[in-house]
Amino acid sequence: MSSSPLMNTYKRASVDFVRGEGEFLYDANGRRYIDLLSGIAVVSVGHANARVAQAISEQASRLVHVSNLFGTIPMKRLAQRLQASTGGWGSVFFCNSGAEANECAIKLARKAGGGKRYKILASEGGFHGRTLGTLAATGQPEKWRGFEPLPEGFVHRPYNDLEAFTAAIDDSVAAIFVEPIQGERGVIPGTPQFLRGLRELCDRAKIPLIFDEVQTGVARTGSWWAFQTLGVKPDIMTSAKGIANGLPLGACIADEPYASVFKPGDHGTTFGGGPVVCAAALAVFDEIEERGLLAEAARKGEIFADLLRSLDSVQEVRGAGLMRGVVLRQPIAFGVVSAGLERGLVLNATSDNVLRMVPPLVISEDSLAEAVGTLQGVIADVASKGISPQSSPSAPAW
Ligand SMILES: Cc1ncc(COP(=O)(O)O)c(C=O)c1O
Repeated sequence: MSSSPLMNTYKRASVDFVRGEGEFLYDANGRRYIDLLSGIAVVSVGHANARVAQAISEQASRLVHVSNLFGTIPMKRLAQRLQASTGGWGSVFFCNSGAEANECAIKLARKAGGGKRYKILASEGGFHGRTLGTLAATGQPEKWRGFEPLPEGFVHRPYNDLEAFTAAIDDSVAAIFVEPIQGERGVIPGTPQFLRGLRELCDRAKIPLIFDEVQTGVARTGSWWAFQTLGVKPDIMTSAKGIANGLPLGACIADEPYASVFKPGDHGTTFGGGPVVCAAALAVFDEIEERGLLAEAARKGEIFADLLRSLDSVQEVRGAGLMRGVVLRQPIAFGVVSAGLERGLVLNATSDNVLRMVPPLVISEDSLAEAVGTLQGVIADVASKGISPQSSPSAPAW
């Protein structure tokens, strides 16, 4: 018998989507779903966004690929837009995913460390990707199993524990590498004291502070970057997910002196920064600016958080903008995800009591209210049926 056409890496839900529009997804029967996940914080300016679709189609009919041995106008324009979005700093290396952007950041820090400084100090519970390097940076030992030995030189300390990070600094540490808000761990924001303290530690040790903004970036928290929302500037940051609305694009963005560390031959990629994905990302930047989505993500994020907090079944709502972790009073989050899908809601759970909400930034207030109303009923139903996390067909989407 032949093996399955797809490798068994994801426990996929029973629904196949065939079409999307804004914050809505549709299945083959024409059934409408409100998407509170955006393909895991990716479809930032909405499904089937007309401007993005047009940019992709125009660029695809003009020029699709030349390799990084040559420049293209979309890539150069996008690098300038990224620089403007940080407030004027940052040279960019384009790649194809969040993991690759983080690989670039790790290599940059190690090269800057000159061989003596090589350790990457990262956080317990952090998530940085599935390549061997980013898996080693990921502070979740359960994900390492079966893949050891991982690359050496990654050290983990508890997130938001400044003392533990301080104690781990020595001459062998090349960088501190954290998410400004831990996404996959359940939307856990870095505290101002912690993030400011990391900045000071890096300044004292003369090593880069690296923020993984793969999930938090591109307007998700109400600023272009979460570092602006949280008020602590990194030396290097990484982006992917929402940057091209679903096309594969990653970026590692570094300030001086790290921006000048790589020389030709140090790092590379065949596809990274291709004209079609960059054209899509430029359209995303235009959409965010013209539709005022930075302010809208902040404003609607507050409305959404207040609506969620009003539910008796909700213990806590954390996060910023349209990146929210909803802590349920009961450990039924996976059951809620499955039951929610049956009721037309696309949800995600990061643990048995936390739902992660990352809807498209263009979601309307009406859809937020409708979604929270439906969610209330779904939680009540699941709680009354006593669905256990184990009995849920859904699994966390990493
Ligand atoms: C914070 C963070 N970093 C890195 C990654 C990995 O990105 P990718 O799946 O594009 O490699 C993710 C993906 O979920 C993420 O949330």
